[in-house]
Amino acid sequence: MTNLGTNNAKHRHFSGGKLVIASHNPGKVREINDLLAPFGADVVSVAELGLPEPVEDGDTFIKNAEIKALAAATASGFPALADDSGLCVHALNNEPGVYSARWAGESKDFVLAMKKVAGALEKAEESGNTDKSAHFACALTIAWPDGHTETFEGKVLGQMTWPMRGNNGFGYDPVFMPDGFDITFGEMEPEKKHSMSHRARAFALLVDACFASRSDT
Ligand code: IMP
Repeated sequence: MTNLGTNNAKHRHFSGGKLVIASHNPGKVREINDLLAPFGADVVSVAELGLPEPVEDGDTFIKNAEIKALAAATASGFPALADDSGLCVHALNNEPGVYSARWAGESKDFVLAMKKVAGALEKAEESGNTDKSAHFACALTIAWPDGHTETFEGKVLGQMTWPMRGNNGFGYDPVFMPDGFDITFGEMEPEKKHSMSHRARAFALLVDACFASRSDT
């Protein structure tokens, strides 16, 4: 059963022990380890376990996070955590969306990806659509080997800007200005971004529902 994150519903609680992180990115695994260590999670990555990467063929962030978490949980026999994220530009029907990484091509060239987005927005503007709003989205799933999943979503709203500004962050950060700020994520101090990002919001919901100590379990 999938339980899509609200804090007032009953959620399955992680009861300690091994937790597999379904990511091949060592930086992400380290960050999650630091975050979840206080809750008795003995974090291990899919790479350390030698597990293959499943095909991420979902058309939503939630589907892809669930595919990755379920594949790791069933293959390892331990609870597993996966996230999927991307940039959704409203005037472009939420593209690049789940294809955010793919717009950067084989060589992971995000300058090229940002140019593609800027070019598509210019075309939209020529056709009369001046909307520059966008959001980053993150879906975070914890799955158990019996197939149970709990999924949480975080979003941050903002405006697309051009040209690129700032050298902090990664991916599309230099062309995204979060609402309430006149700087891009690329210009923002990392600590500030991490306190308000789509990923931080999804993690806060997950920790609150499935990891924080509770008196009702
Ligand atoms: P994944 O969820 O790690 O596969 O990330 C998908 C892609 O979305 C990344 O390669 C980035 O291009 C983009 N993305 C996700 N989160 C962010 C962010 O916080 N800043 C900039 N780009 C992001």
